[in-house]
Amino acid sequence: KRSLVSITDYSKEDILEVLKIASEFEKKPNRNLLEGKVVASLFFEPSTRTRLSFETAISRMGGRIVGFSDASSSSTTKGESLKDTTKMVDNYCDLIVMRHPLEGAARFASEVADVPVINAGDGANQHPTQTMLDLYSIYKTQGTLENLNIFMVGDLKYGRTVHSLLQAMSHFNPIFHFISPKELEMPKAYKLFLDDLHIPYYEHTELDDVINDADILYMTRVQRERFADPLEYEKVKNVYILKNSMLAGTKDNMRILHPLPRVNEISEDVDDNKKAYYFQQALNGVYTRQAIIFKALDLKW
Ligand code: CP
Repeated sequence: KRSLVSITDYSKEDILEVLKIASEFEKKPNRNLLEGKVVASLFFEPSTRTRLSFETAISRMGGRIVGFSDASSSSTTKGESLKDTTKMVDNYCDLIVMRHPLEGAARFASEVADVPVINAGDGANQHPTQTMLDLYSIYKTQGTLENLNIFMVGDLKYGRTVHSLLQAMSHFNPIFHFISPKELEMPKAYKLFLDDLHIPYYEHTELDDVINDADILYMTRVQRERFADPLEYEKVKNVYILKNSMLAGTKDNMRILHPLPRVNEISEDVDDNKKAYYFQQALNGVYTRQAIIFKALDLKW
């Protein structure tokens, strides 16, 4: 069984293999490789892109989907434990895709289930399938993953997408720049991870001054749902707003990524700039999730 719970479950070779498989799916998305297979899609937390791109991926591969997009329609509301829910669903399907607000929920489910589990986001912890589509997007726009200046902006404390992306990019000699308010800085554990690998990173609090060196400008939303105290959220909610006028001095190859959804952090006047890549990035999620499923189920062409 091949679960994907943390991006560290993939070696560098696994990452490169999945990106190659994704490029095959991009050339031809409709392939009947999941005929007769059932995928359980268990979303205990809201989602638009991750859930719908998984469902699109599965549909384009001829598979069937069962599950829920709202935990309030499941027996969780009656007090059923995650363990029991997982053991039940395990018997119904060939693969589980799970999003859950609790950090570690997908790891726990993968230990209970016999079928592979794919983590579609667990609290502020990890979002490895997002990372794979981010890597695919970076490779497509830069022609390489090596030696890039990666700028991460916004909520670096609770942002599971930046945590997973940092770990994945560490295979490829990056230079990181972290732009956040002090309250939302990159957690110490991730900085120690980079220190151990001698990967350079620089921390900033201002956005305008520094982005001209970026190859990838990875914007993130300040996530209201992760704050225990709403007043703390109010203090930082609109801390960075990227505007078209701020892009004039940026590198030609620079591309703006964002896992989406956005709130205010990218002004709509950026959307028509050729450096805006976030909607294409979301489309890449279909091909990369097809590739992740391909690997999890050890499918053959
Ligand atoms: N990027 C992302 O995870 O979006 P959703 O929350 O809409 O799935």
